Amino acid sequence: MNKKLTLSCLLLFVLSFTFLLQSKSIKNHVVKTTCLQKSLAERIDSVLTIMTLEEKVGQLNQYSSNWTTGPVSPEANKLQDIKDGKVGSMLNVKGAEKTRAIQKIALQSRMKIPLLFGLDVIHGYKTTFPIPLAEACSWDLAAMELTARIAATEAAAAGVHWTFAPMVDIARDPRWGRVMEGAGEDTYLGCAIAKARVKGFQGGQLGKTDAVMACAKHFAAYGAAIGGRDYNSVDMSERTLFEVYLPPFKAAVDAGAATFMNSFNDVNGVPATGNPHLQRDILKGKWGFNGFVVSDWGSIVEMQTHGFAKSLKESAFIAINAGNDMDMESRAYTKNLATLVTEGKVSITVVDEAVKRILLKKFELGLFDDPYKFCNEKRETQAFQNPQHRIIAKEMAQKSIVLLKNQNSILPLNKQQKVALIGPLAKSKIDMLGFWNVEWDDNSDVVSQYEGLELKIGKNNLLYAKGCEVNDSSEIGFAEAITIAKQADVVLLSMGETRDISGEARSRANIHFPGVQEKLIKAIVATGKPVVMLINAGRPLVFNWAADHVSAILYTWWLGSEAGNAIADVLYGDYNPSAKLTMSFPQSEGQIPVYYNHFNTGRPQLNSHEQYASGYKDASSLPKFPFGFGLSYTSFEYSDLKLSSNTMKADGKIDVSFTLKNSGKIKGEEVVQLYLKDEVASLVRPIKELKGFEKVMLQAGESKEIKFTIDKEKLSFFNNKLEWLAESGKFQLMIGASSDDLKLKSSFELID
Ligand code: NOJ
Repeated sequence: MNKKLTLSCLLLFVLSFTFLLQSKSIKNHVVKTTCLQKSLAERIDSVLTIMTLEEKVGQLNQYSSNWTTGPVSPEANKLQDIKDGKVGSMLNVKGAEKTRAIQKIALQSRMKIPLLFGLDVIHGYKTTFPIPLAEACSWDLAAMELTARIAATEAAAAGVHWTFAPMVDIARDPRWGRVMEGAGEDTYLGCAIAKARVKGFQGGQLGKTDAVMACAKHFAAYGAAIGGRDYNSVDMSERTLFEVYLPPFKAAVDAGAATFMNSFNDVNGVPATGNPHLQRDILKGKWGFNGFVVSDWGSIVEMQTHGFAKSLKESAFIAINAGNDMDMESRAYTKNLATLVTEGKVSITVVDEAVKRILLKKFELGLFDDPYKFCNEKRETQAFQNPQHRIIAKEMAQKSIVLLKNQNSILPLNKQQKVALIGPLAKSKIDMLGFWNVEWDDNSDVVSQYEGLELKIGKNNLLYAKGCEVNDSSEIGFAEAITIAKQADVVLLSMGETRDISGEARSRANIHFPGVQEKLIKAIVATGKPVVMLINAGRPLVFNWAADHVSAILYTWWLGSEAGNAIADVLYGDYNPSAKLTMSFPQSEGQIPVYYNHFNTGRPQLNSHEQYASGYKDASSLPKFPFGFGLSYTSFEYSDLKLSSNTMKADGKIDVSFTLKNSGKIKGEEVVQLYLKDEVASLVRPIKELKGFEKVMLQAGESKEIKFTIDKEKLSFFNNKLEWLAESGKFQLMIGASSDDLKLKSSFELID
């Protein structure tokens, strides 16, 4: 379009809009019909031009519905505020009918700018998938993308435009309750999963009715809260921030994440919400992020509690200048921003920039064309009833179960064995959903473990006793549980955490089984019956006694709607477990943080008796179960490692290949992992770092050649000037079944 035409188009638009305003009959589609050819930027500007300052501030304000996922804020007259154009977005409104009703109110405002509806669709909407940490253990990127896709399809049909996911915080501390929401401890894997999830939620393109905006959170370093205490401070070097904690956020930007959420914590003394370095310099500057940043719940007002702002007004001033575009439930912007602008303390350009970022997303979603596009009762019902979604939920749950122990190949079971299912979680439905499930008021369609087993083997060979509660001191049920155990060939013990023990504000100093569960395990093991444990939890737990004394362990996390069916499939060999841990499991809380890619130190502990070594006098420094670990019902052999060369130039590459053989009797999948170590560098490097992986399915007896490529990118790190580069020298290359089970080793040199 030439300049003249654009200008006349704009003029025509403004005139027609003003006219319609005066006639009090603005139709929402006016923005659309006036000038379809206009570029998005022009369309946004044309809206901005006719907005009052108060209306602009309104776009930056987000309220929750009466369903709260944070501390209850003082009441506001929310519906009136929406009508008055003082609200740009609502969170926690669920369902096509409700979102439509509230959108209608927004369209009664002068500008008729549609609302954005946001919700924590963390691991499913109607269909609940395994918690994100469990899904991560599948190492199956396509599967994770697919579950995010389905969650988006269901959510978008129910009027939701925006999910507050994925959480891409690296987490090395299982005391932190929110480890359940992320991908675990590794940055390389975390980046790959962040990309898959963003792609899954956003689909091909924003604006399609099966896509929602993703939100990479919590920016930044929230997972490094000191002591694993939620909301706690973070103190770390800029280099660690760049190398370990920021890359998954960068990956989310590269994958097109539409929004970011900042975090509750301070980073080196500056609250993330009021941190211009993070939000302006890095995110919007260096990384060129064109979406918008929402605060976390009340994180603007909390800058006063941090001791970083004197008043709500100052909090608003700090946050907007630091690059926080939308205010979630602090009411800081709506109460102060217009005054700050009028007083000349905040520049109108800063406000305009934030408003433009939000309007851009509303345009991209197509809300100006049709504000009701996403609340569609018919589509909602169809999406909720789609049988395919449950099939995928079951498959994802199967892929997320980690086999940690299988003494004497007690698993898989056979249907002739009499089984005693014992434990407080055996019949629970709600706990299978885990924290952050959207179906908070209805869990009737969840398959419990008891139901899954009953479906698999019928009632005759299935006995049941609860034994105890999850978190209670009563042992009254022990006697019945022991009696039942004695009648069975095998005991299945379903233990762990209820859904509200891990999650936001659910940090624990003691991450053993709560209540008297461990006592019950001991009582059942004492019967002499073989015991298979099903451990349900939102985090790695410490369970040394059980790990050393039971016959088999399946770590079943919180697996979602199809939990019971997936567990039964694994127990009876209809699915061969293939998951591998993405967080190290500590042997004791005192070791935390325990993670695989640590530095060597000058005095590594090579054996537990060494006196002057970096270890503990009273405990091992090794994890109980290492990163990358997980068993299968079959076995795999690694052989024939070949490197195309033992030297590489910075612009070159090395092809690596080896043979993987399924040496067992049934088909199965192996997650092969490639680790590298930079032997000597200008900064100390980790003892190994994951730099490649592949999930490979092999029939019994089948072999396959697996290939990886080493390039400069895989050898690079941030030096102390924060330059991303690879230094010449020797690198060790390790390939194996876990970070602790490296089957093939070689080395090569990067040369100038
Ligand atoms: C606070 C949590 O930290 C954040 O992850 C979530 O999205 C918001 N509450 C909204 O529920």
